[in-house]
Amino acid sequence: MGNAFYITTPIYYVNASPHIGHAYTTIIADVLARYSRLAGRQTFFSTGTDEHGDKIAEAAQKGQVTPQEYADRISNQFRELWPKLAVTNDVFIRTTDANHIETVQSILKKVYEAGDIYFGQYEGFYCVGCERFYMEKELIDGLCPDHQTKPEYRQESNYFFRMSKYQDWLIGYIQDNPDFIRPERYKNEVISFLKEPLEDLCISRPKTRLEWGVTLPFDDNYVTYVWFDALINYITVLGYPDGEKFRTFWPVSQHLIAKDILKPHGIYWPTMLKAAGIEPYQHLNVHGYWTVEQSKMSKSLGNVIKPLDLKDKYGLDAFRYYLLREMVFGLDSSFSEESFVQRINSELANDLGNLVSRSMTMALKYMEGKVVRSNAPSDKDRDLERAAIATVAEVENCFENMTFHKALIAVWELINRTNKYIVEEEPWTLAKSPENKVRLETVIYHLLESLRIIAILILPVMPGTTEKIMEQLGIKDVEGQDLNSARKWGELQEGNILKKSDALFPRVEFKKEEAPVVEKKKMKPVKPEISYEDFEKIDLRVAEILAAENIPGAKKLLKLRIDMGEERTIVAGIAQDYKPEALVGKKIVVLCNLKPTKLMGVESNGMLLATDGVDGVTLLGFDREPETGATVR
Ligand code: MSP
Repeated sequence: MGNAFYITTPIYYVNASPHIGHAYTTIIADVLARYSRLAGRQTFFSTGTDEHGDKIAEAAQKGQVTPQEYADRISNQFRELWPKLAVTNDVFIRTTDANHIETVQSILKKVYEAGDIYFGQYEGFYCVGCERFYMEKELIDGLCPDHQTKPEYRQESNYFFRMSKYQDWLIGYIQDNPDFIRPERYKNEVISFLKEPLEDLCISRPKTRLEWGVTLPFDDNYVTYVWFDALINYITVLGYPDGEKFRTFWPVSQHLIAKDILKPHGIYWPTMLKAAGIEPYQHLNVHGYWTVEQSKMSKSLGNVIKPLDLKDKYGLDAFRYYLLREMVFGLDSSFSEESFVQRINSELANDLGNLVSRSMTMALKYMEGKVVRSNAPSDKDRDLERAAIATVAEVENCFENMTFHKALIAVWELINRTNKYIVEEEPWTLAKSPENKVRLETVIYHLLESLRIIAILILPVMPGTTEKIMEQLGIKDVEGQDLNSARKWGELQEGNILKKSDALFPRVEFKKEEAPVVEKKKMKPVKPEISYEDFEKIDLRVAEILAAENIPGAKKLLKLRIDMGEERTIVAGIAQDYKPEALVGKKIVVLCNLKPTKLMGVESNGMLLATDGVDGVTLLGFDREPETGATVR
């Protein structure tokens, strides 16, 4: 790192509330920003939300609100979460901000005028979840490899970015700058994408299909593809093209992402920058995925982990520590509440908590509540001094290389070494005879000075704990602490007033059965028992859908004309999950002896059967074609 540092997180989609994955990336960015400030660098840290596109428009429609209202609501959840997790971002960008829209349009115009955006015909398989077209060979059994859903076949005229033109340049650039994308496994992944010819990128969506986006400055019948919009946030926040911030921070820009969005960041973004005449970012840092007890986190599995639940239950610093200590940057990690509790008890309560509490108790007792310096270090004392200073260098090295777990391991080695020093030096024995006074002062000073260095080293990860330790050591200027003062032994001032506080990390007990943070999806309560005679009263039939249409003014309802041996009309609440045209010809199950009722002025003569899950409704289907009108029992 040079004298300035710029770190970004992905801007998160507003189609779902924040979970532990978003918290991880943002906390890592915060740790880096805090570290860089500690190292005396001019630092800029940005995060925000990505609000345009199909995904958001669809989620808003489901929630029956406008896309803007929907985006406002979820964006606020992110914005309000970060301070609660002690995240110190300098800016929070939304892609709906006016200055961002202006920047996106200025880049589009520039690239268009340079001839790198052209109009053409596109057809292919489009996955709404990924917001992108797939080539047939990329699909697995005809399904999107990420979402396991069937993509729609779409054909339309669109604008394209001449990405292919920059393929050779990008390959050369990555070869010349081996740590452009890191860790190495992800650089290799990008290189292997680039072994195949790069296709031009479709960067528009016709407004007839999607209005929720940034209008193309050269054709107002189209909006911009979300990625072309979203990636540009990283320069909007710096005031591109003229801002002072842009000049200072862009040359030292570092992006932080998980592996899911490697391709847009590793390929689209550098080629877009090149086409716009902007230098590439400095580093792309890619981490792995948090899973929950080995499976993917998802709303429908009901295992989404909410960062605030963990913070409220176990404390913020413990949560931040666990995230950084548990995951090896770059690899996947499985979250388990049990292993979290284990780390709290052994590494935080036992190792660090005990060291602070024992040292402070002895210092207060033997030094009359003040820091006393002495100048008679033994070889053992010198060893501890050297170990502390070497730890500072090791931690710096780890932070520069994104090996956060190793940084924490190094600090914990120093903690354990200091704990061992207490056992070996036995201050309580020294205190028994007055002739050991200077020796006792030396030992206690060494303990307190180690604590000071440890407190600075954990600051990026556990700022609250640093503050508490500093307070106990009588250090008033917590904000003014920097890495320089950790690199030097002996900075703890004589005469500082010491103060004992409560345990830093009380031990916690893990009770599996008691309100686990990872809640398994629960079965809804079963309704009261019915007799066979009651069941016999229910008349279920197979019916074929002949026609389907929306009911004006009813967002959720569809009017269906069905055939089940006789023709009938029914009204079904499935409009948010099924398009009318996709239903014609489908066979469904209908409860046909339900008393007729009027819904939005249309008489319904039966009720179709469908599941009612968190992700919407699914019609009951058949594994082979049934006869229309057949009874279902
Ligand atoms: N909007 C795009 C990013 C545009 S950036 C110009 C997007 N948004 S997202 O909401 O899906 O966020 C993806 C990012 O969230 C990941 O890259 C990662 O930073 C974080 N994570 C989401 N789930 C995660 C895990 N399960 N594990 C770790 N990080 C995860 O993609």
